[in-house]
Amino acid sequence: MKKLIAGNWKMNGSLAINRDLLAALVSGMAGGDSVCDVAVCVPSAYLQQVQDALVRTPIKWGAQDVSAHDQGAFTGEISANMLRDFACRYTLVGHSERRQYHGESDSVVAAKAQRALAAGITPIVCVGETLAERESGQTMMVVKRQLAAAIHAVGHCATEIVVAYEPVWAIGTGLTASPEQAQEVHAVLRTQLLAACGRSASLPRILYGGSMNASNAALLLSQPDIDGGLIGGASLKAADFLAIVAAASAV
Ligand code: PGA
Repeated sequence: MKKLIAGNWKMNGSLAINRDLLAALVSGMAGGDSVCDVAVCVPSAYLQQVQDALVRTPIKWGAQDVSAHDQGAFTGEISANMLRDFACRYTLVGHSERRQYHGESDSVVAAKAQRALAAGITPIVCVGETLAERESGQTMMVVKRQLAAAIHAVGHCATEIVVAYEPVWAIGTGLTASPEQAQEVHAVLRTQLLAACGRSASLPRILYGGSMNASNAALLLSQPDIDGGLIGGASLKAADFLAIVAAASAV
């Protein structure tokens, strides 16, 4: 399965900072032999800038969130059709920061995934347990529940999503799940996806996210059920992000 390395810029950047970062990514990948898919998920305010910079490059782009609604009186929201206007290939849904700070439930996240797919955009559905949930032995129950909601909402389109396993305790903390810890969860998610999708030719990719960086990427990405990475902090530095892309292309 072709790996996917997706950057999650979160609420970082400026026109000037983005210009330099995008130029460095484009030149770093030019003529390169990267055999993995690469994308950046950026603040929606910069989608036009990112589209202009990446349109004739191998790098795809996307948003970090999308509305669960189609259109109308939802002040501040951005619809999937709007994202399509900027040729977004992906959007994150259900990132733990959305679940935690904006109270997004499993069913809201599932509705967002459905809206994205209906607009032809691949949702990257984020799942993951908190430290308290891990310590009380609930990891598998939590991630299965989160994924089940999305699978249920998207039905036969489940083959078209991307899943990102992001243990909340590993995000932005410098604590990474060990390759074995991540693989254990990915294997459970794979089994769940297999049951939902059947032995389809195109099973969804399962990315790992949570303090993935240039030095730990190779080991994580060599696990059998880790199909790529969702990269926060390290996606803001071109050299680090490109090193992760190189590691994904080498396995
Ligand atoms: P991190 O973030 O790589 O900075 O831990 C990952 C994410 O939140 O997607």
